[in-house]
Amino acid sequence: ASSVEVDVSSLTPGMSLTVKWRGKPVAIRNRTEKEMKEAEAVSLSDLKDPLARNANLASDAPATDANRTVPGKEAWMVMVQVCTHLGCIPLGEQGEYGGWFCPCHGSAYDTAGRIRKGPAPENMAIPVFSFISDTSIRIG
Ligand code: FES
Repeated sequence: ASSVEVDVSSLTPGMSLTVKWRGKPVAIRNRTEKEMKEAEAVSLSDLKDPLARNANLASDAPATDANRTVPGKEAWMVMVQVCTHLGCIPLGEQGEYGGWFCPCHGSAYDTAGRIRKGPAPENMAIPVFSFISDTSIRIG
């Protein structure tokens, strides 16, 4: 009951959907090449939060673009869509870094969901998830 399975077959690159998991919204996004390249190009020293915050990895894993995803499926962001400042819901494809933007107090996240500007202290959380087929993701 604590996991959900999501059919992502309709998501072509550049498309997202949001599901509820444990009462929270989880954004699933099939990123474009451009979004991935932008996130890969960011040096770790430019990140406010250097940790991946990815429940599929060790807690000290660095916040590289690849570490914000799972191996072999690097286009896919699966992320708890809750601002790490005070818990508002950031909006997708918004803000200075082209990722997510929180309208409450102006936190801007990049295309890997990493905090880049504003009061939020941490990258948005990546939940435990896996691809159970090419078109289906299990979260939790
Ligand atoms: Fe998102 Fe404050 S809750 S910036």
